[in-house]
Amino acid sequence: MHRVIIDTDPGQDDAFALLLAIASPDVEVIGVTTVAGNVPVAQTADNARRIVELAGRPDIPVFAGAAGPILRAPRPVPEIHGDTGIDGWAWAPPAHPIRPEHAVDWLVETLLREPVGAVTLIALAPQTNLALALRREPAIAARIRQVVFMGGGYFEGGNMTPAAEYNILVDPEAAAIVLGAGMDVTAAPIDCTHSAPAPIDWSMQLEAMDTQVGRACAGMMRFFERHGIAKYGTPTRPLHDAIAVGALLWPDLFEGRRCPVEFECAGQLTTGMTVVDWLRQTGKADNCLWLRRCLDPAELYRRMQVELSRLPAT
Ligand code: BDR
Ligand code: CA
Repeated sequence: MHRVIIDTDPGQDDAFALLLAIASPDVEVIGVTTVAGNVPVAQTADNARRIVELAGRPDIPVFAGAAGPILRAPRPVPEIHGDTGIDGWAWAPPAHPIRPEHAVDWLVETLLREPVGAVTLIALAPQTNLALALRREPAIAARIRQVVFMGGGYFEGGNMTPAAEYNILVDPEAAAIVLGAGMDVTAAPIDCTHSAPAPIDWSMQLEAMDTQVGRACAGMMRFFERHGIAKYGTPTRPLHDAIAVGALLWPDLFEGRRCPVEFECAGQLTTGMTVVDWLRQTGKADNCLWLRRCLDPAELYRRMQVELSRLPAT
């Protein structure tokens, strides 16, 4: 059983990740923290509340966090995710209020209160909230069981610049703080997610579930794929953040290697690059399990759909 906090910036692929984690009988989501990323933080907090409500779980608390990266300007991407971040479905406004605490305060309090090794952090966005929490209270690092993050790319390069993937590019200093904190970290980079595009008829399969979640997911998938297919010329696209949750749930479907990983914070052409010492040439200590690829994408999406079908039909 994984007791998790999800830090996120929904994002259609974040929405799938949240729904998957909530649906899984092997996961207990104790809270969702949101951050500025794909869209501004007020919108990501709204979106997270809409998503937990869609899943029939308005009791899962949602906390809004940082309004921008530690040192840099926010970098919203409505051209990818739409103006709301979760375009593709006619969402009603969230019915329940946002929790009043700041996400960073809640993270620190919760991680100090929970037993050592009890909580896994799933990071699906720029890692600003986690870095601020670690700076505020470094003792939380030793209490976290594991961090699984979606971000970075080495073999695949970047998806925002030739060198950098979005979540790392937006706040490379935050990612460096998180990876430098000595925790057990697993990365689901675009090396891994690009190896697992959704099945060509995935949105039709979701629609055929004939549930509200299935219809919302089908709409989001169609919207999410439009930009990606035009950019990459592929017939379909991977649900990056949902794949990171899949990596936690089903490690048998992934292949990777522990190795030293660092982030470029000051490059002229390479800011936000993930420098992976895959061949262990630096002599530095391994600090990350770098998932290089998914071994069976069809099975991954099949299992995702089984989980999503557990969510309420209306
Ligand atoms: C990551 O960037 C965001 O746009 C997605 O939600 C995902 O977390 C993929 O590079
Ligand atoms: Ca995301």
